[in-house]
Amino acid sequence: MVEALRRMEYRGYDSSGVAVLDGSGASRVEKKEGKLANLEAALDSAGHDSFPGTTGIGHTRWATHGRPSDRNAHPHVSGDVAIVHNGIIENFAPLRAELEAAGVELVSDTDSEVAAHLLMCEMASGPHAGDFVASCRAVLNRLEGAFTLVFSHAAHPGTLVAARRSTPLVLGVGKGEMFLGSDVAAFIEHTREAVELGQDNVVVLRADGYEITDLAGEPTEGRPFHIDWDLAAAEKGGYDYFMLKEIAEQPAAVADTLLGHFQDGRIVLDEQRISDQDLRDIDKVFIVACGSAYHSGMVAKYAIEHWTRLPCEVEIASEFRYRDPVLDRSTLVVAISQSGETADTLEAVRHAKSQKARVLAVCNTNGSQIPREADAVLYTHAGPEIGVASTKAYLAQITANYLVGLALAQARGTKYPDEVAAEFRQLEKMPEAIQKVVDSLDPVREIARELADSKSVLFLGRHVGYPTALEGALKLKELAYMHAEGFPAGELKHGPIALIEDGLPVFIVMPPVEGRGVLHSKLVSNIQEIRARGARTIVIAEEGDEVVRPLSDYFIPIPASTTLLQPLLATIPYQAFAAEVAAARGYDVDKPRNLAKSVTVE
Ligand code: F6R
Repeated sequence: MVEALRRMEYRGYDSSGVAVLDGSGASRVEKKEGKLANLEAALDSAGHDSFPGTTGIGHTRWATHGRPSDRNAHPHVSGDVAIVHNGIIENFAPLRAELEAAGVELVSDTDSEVAAHLLMCEMASGPHAGDFVASCRAVLNRLEGAFTLVFSHAAHPGTLVAARRSTPLVLGVGKGEMFLGSDVAAFIEHTREAVELGQDNVVVLRADGYEITDLAGEPTEGRPFHIDWDLAAAEKGGYDYFMLKEIAEQPAAVADTLLGHFQDGRIVLDEQRISDQDLRDIDKVFIVACGSAYHSGMVAKYAIEHWTRLPCEVEIASEFRYRDPVLDRSTLVVAISQSGETADTLEAVRHAKSQKARVLAVCNTNGSQIPREADAVLYTHAGPEIGVASTKAYLAQITANYLVGLALAQARGTKYPDEVAAEFRQLEKMPEAIQKVVDSLDPVREIARELADSKSVLFLGRHVGYPTALEGALKLKELAYMHAEGFPAGELKHGPIALIEDGLPVFIVMPPVEGRGVLHSKLVSNIQEIRARGARTIVIAEEGDEVVRPLSDYFIPIPASTTLLQPLLATIPYQAFAAEVAAARGYDVDKPRNLAKSVTVE
């Protein structure tokens, strides 16, 4: 079991745990905060003999609700029930209130724990009391959100019940043994025969077989497949690099970041330790961040100023506190950080707080330092990002930043509730559009291989296309060690146009047709200017943008979107381009030279 958890550790590594059913009606549970090594040490000191049994569940956690701790680690236990959960139970708050009103004591801060207690109550006094499988279904039917859940019950030692909705779960079929995992890497050393489970499928697992039903109990079938990956490939989901896997995970990262943040017609943050009145009184916004997170903040500026009419400045975190910015208690400082540990951003937060400003953190790592010190927090739900270059965390940051903008507009009344709802609905459509871009990256990779020997590449854009250009250039620099620069397209003629020479590749993001007008036609002129000087143009534009197609040496179509949301689509070809150029040049895509995933020194 520990070996399987080690294979899953890349999916989450802030705490882990196991529950083993000993067959005589008891279960043993051990869980520990921190890396898997902590759990291993605890199991070793307890002695493996004290965990007898042939049925068990295990989990490595990446915190969403409740910071990493022994208490919040999985499995969660209620009487004879133990459960592990991946995902977000969106309606956990009313379920928790219901359980508390019934006298159940909840011991963790997680959304997951409610599932254990609900099952315990169903087994004790529900309409299917004593029927393990039917009681699990009854619980599953009450849950909203995205979840993979596995239930065990000490009085039913030979059986596990599991289900999935919008999060992964695969079944491994062995000889006289069965497995479940978030992906096949969990059990690949035991069996290569697997079954993919469909949406809302429930599987009942016994050592000698399994049954799959829907949530109503009607029999259904999974999709059997043979695993021909080796172990290393299996951990990367069959991709050559984690970064490619993480690019492909972007529809889920954006969808999960939106999940649960629009309730009863209102945008809700994850943690808010400032009053609504204080939020209403904000008269100025600073965004502080580094690298890609800074670029996501640049995108946010357009949305925040447009939606809230508040002045918004974006600052590189390492510059912020050294220039004595004008801050007071009606200033909101938004700190964006995937890791939540970046020293420059953390020091900017501390400086802001020392000047009485309010701090809102947008962060991917629950329990990290920046959200701990902030007055309000919105978590991105990209999951662990292993590739050093930010991809899915970046799109999740942009998404969360839009939610911050809408929360401010809502608090200040600069948008009516139905306008906020309409913007949120636009955001909800994005995962599908992102999926389309992710599915059509092969031509981009071909262009990358063709241009892999270029000395230099330029990236141009206007409006939100400008931060997208900066992000495209950063990806290429950090992964392919190639000179790259991003410019606002209008700035070109003020100097950088001197860089244009015959054959120089220049990427351009065109605004969507919705924004066509001044912006679109100005960019068309910019393209003509650089083509006249010999540049090779690679244009990312809305499919059907026939005006710009004839001006493109390479044309990369993306789906239609609003102008503000376009970076969620237009960035993706840049990620794929940089990864492919790096691979073609023989570099390690996941671990670029000189870089660390989290920069904890100033
Ligand atoms: C670029 C990249 C970095 C980070 C930056 C901030 O691909 O990953 O530029 O975005 O170091 O890191 P966080 O978001 O952890 O504060």
